[in-house]
Amino acid sequence: MILKNYKAVFLEHLAKKIKVKEPASLYEPIVYILNLEGKRIRPVLALMSCEIFGGKVNDALDAALAIEMFHNFSLIHDDIMDAAPLRRGKVTVHEKWSLNTGILSGDALLVWAKQLLESYDGDKYKRLNTLFTKTALEVCEGQQYDFDFETTFDVDVSNYIKMITQKTAVLLAASLKFGAIIAGANQEDSDNIYQYGLNLGIAFQLQDDYLDIYGKEDFGKQRAGDIIENKKTFLVLKSFELMNDQDREELIKLYGVKGGSDKKIENVITLFNKYKVSELIQLEIKKYTSQAIQNIENLSISAQKKESLVIFAEQLMERKI
Ligand code: IPE
Ligand code: IPE
Ligand code: MG
Ligand code: MG
Ligand code: MG
Repeated sequence: MILKNYKAVFLEHLAKKIKVKEPASLYEPIVYILNLEGKRIRPVLALMSCEIFGGKVNDALDAALAIEMFHNFSLIHDDIMDAAPLRRGKVTVHEKWSLNTGILSGDALLVWAKQLLESYDGDKYKRLNTLFTKTALEVCEGQQYDFDFETTFDVDVSNYIKMITQKTAVLLAASLKFGAIIAGANQEDSDNIYQYGLNLGIAFQLQDDYLDIYGKEDFGKQRAGDIIENKKTFLVLKSFELMNDQDREELIKLYGVKGGSDKKIENVITLFNKYKVSELIQLEIKKYTSQAIQNIENLSISAQKKESLVIFAEQLMERKI
């Protein structure tokens, strides 16, 4: 199946399963965020992986939906934590409704996601559930580090990579492993596809950080939201590492206040540009993408299937939203 078709099949399943129930004030925000124009990368990965390992796409639909629902739950709560006004080009849930709505609808969405796994039986259910709960906790740990790092410069690029592995990469990796579990793939293939997802996910979050600053209007999020929130992205940490003492002091001062005046944003970007970190982040994205591509080599699947995983990784690296 070609990538576009995985997305179409997934969206059909989403429309069938996700409807507003009572109380509407709980479910409307859930349906709202799930129906915004997301890329649907995680469910596509789950469906693709299932088919690649010889399973039926239809069998992976509930798991794919569970993953996308978990992702959307994490976005609702992430937007509260990041004080983000925009998501996928539209108003965020907590701004459109309220903070309490964001908290409770988010909670319900997380539980609903987990409930969808109950359509699997026995050993498969157990393995999916174990991976789901492990991944969910790791995402929370990553989000906590992301938040903790806002108020310290006592972090380096390796701390950052660990943080984004947890907050972002493990979910892409788990999406692929979900597909492998449902298809009944062997342990070695499951582990290798998970590793591919981890490297892909690290590249993906690096790209997200890059687009936050250098993306176009249609990126769908508030520009420079990471600077406004004092996030320690690769761009910040790498330039901090390369800086002379004077620039370092300036960056610490700029990041000493939370919030985003135009001047703060402009000055921080000037520092990024001075130390050419936008080029360095591109190299880092390429590095993790090629590591992901290496993980494909050992899979016991046809050359054609391997090629589709290579193409997916390369396309993800070129994304603009
Ligand atoms: C946004 O994920 C959160 C990150 C982990 C960077 P996506 O970029 O996949 O967002 P959607 O689902 O396509 O909107
Ligand atoms: C989000 O990271 C990770 C999770 C939602 C778990 P970001 O905070 O960078 O994601 P965006 O930029 O808001 O989508
Ligand atoms: Mg955010
Ligand atoms: Mg965040
Ligand atoms: Mg971001």
